[in-house]
Amino acid sequence: MKEHIGFGEVERSMRGPFYSAGMRLFIAFYRERYYVLEDSCKHRSGPLSLGTIDMEKGTITCPWHELKSCVKSLVKSAIPSIRMGERIEFKVTKGTNGASLS
Ligand code: FES
Repeated sequence: MKEHIGFGEVERSMRGPFYSAGMRLFIAFYRERYYVLEDSCKHRSGPLSLGTIDMEKGTITCPWHELKSCVKSLVKSAIPSIRMGERIEFKVTKGTNGASLS
């Protein structure tokens, strides 16, 4: 069982970044779903929340060095979350996180 280290709630219109359990997070809207993702590029931890999502190619381009990250891969490690109307509630656990829900 994964250890819960934080809970959070944000308005879905708030893209982020925002902080929970010491993590910088943001919300990505991809293929009709909202995902709570860690706001950290795999290259040098750049702010993906400020990146550009290309829906056709399924990538986020990091604003720091323009590395493209595959959104499909990123959402696989999304913070578990659930959308309730205008709010998104999420649960931060230690270790690998599962996919989010719409
Ligand atoms: S930190 Fe994102 S591309 Fe370098």
